[in-house]
Amino acid sequence: MILEERVQERTRHLKVANAELHRTRSTLIQSERLSALGQMASGVTHDFNNTLAGIMGNTQLMLQHVKDEDSRQRLRAVELAARDGAVNVKRIQEFNRINKTDEMAPTDINDIIAATLEVTSPLRKDLPQREGRTITATPRYGDIPPIMGDPADLREVLTNIVLNAVDAMPEGGDITISSWCTDERVFLGITDPGVGIPSAVLDKLFDPFFSTKGPGNSGLGLRVPPDSRSFRRPGIQQPAYRQNDVV
Ligand SMILES: Nc1ncnc2c1ncn2[C@@H]1O[C@H](COP(=O)(O)OP(=O)(O)OP(=O)(O)O)[C@@H](O)[C@H]1O
Ligand SMILES: [Mg+2]
Repeated sequence: MILEERVQERTRHLKVANAELHRTRSTLIQSERLSALGQMASGVTHDFNNTLAGIMGNTQLMLQHVKDEDSRQRLRAVELAARDGAVNVKRIQEFNRINKTDEMAPTDINDIIAATLEVTSPLRKDLPQREGRTITATPRYGDIPPIMGDPADLREVLTNIVLNAVDAMPEGGDITISSWCTDERVFLGITDPGVGIPSAVLDKLFDPFFSTKGPGNSGLGLRVPPDSRSFRRPGIQQPAYRQNDVV
């Protein structure tokens, strides 16, 4: 009897260990896939950049000579598509931290907020307004010391979060962006009164390529780059009624 119990207990332990092994294996496969993808991307993006530069350069040259308005419109469309392609290539490069030098410098988070609000203004305010959505943004600047960070990285992260908020607000509303500090840390908090983030989405929020918005979106907006020093993985406070707070 005692022997039987021991066998049962061992079997239970083995099952738990086996499940753990399976989990570790799939995590490993996932990270290997990502690393292989990164290596492939770094090779392809370099050549693709040259191709796009060629398309853009030649299109611009042709625009100097072509007078027919219909053809000019088509050339401008080609140029715009190549430009959009270059922006996407840049995102892949930044994801892999290719061409990235050490750009950490004393940075005022309040400046990052102000610059982001400025840069996002057309997509955040003007475009939604044309669709009948009034979206406002309220900065609440705290009295905070500078931090060491990469201003371009920080602006990009905040831009992505602000644009996500815009996407999540079909009825418009006010986005608040606050900064504050404790003795040790400076915080940046963003709240939107949008549709909220379901818990199933919360788990995958920071996974690269995860998106609920369909094929037009890369799902790279909230990825956390492997070598991320300018910011920590953000925490999400669970929505209190329909609010999302990213801190
Ligand atoms: N403020 C938010 N409110 C509701 N859902 C959000 C919010 N921010 C992010 N999400 C959810 O998280 C997903 C991942 O966001 P992420 O920014 O990484 O990708 P994306 O916005 O879908 O695509 P991309 O930013 O590359 O255009 C979104 O598809 C959306 O479902
Ligand atoms: Mg996004």
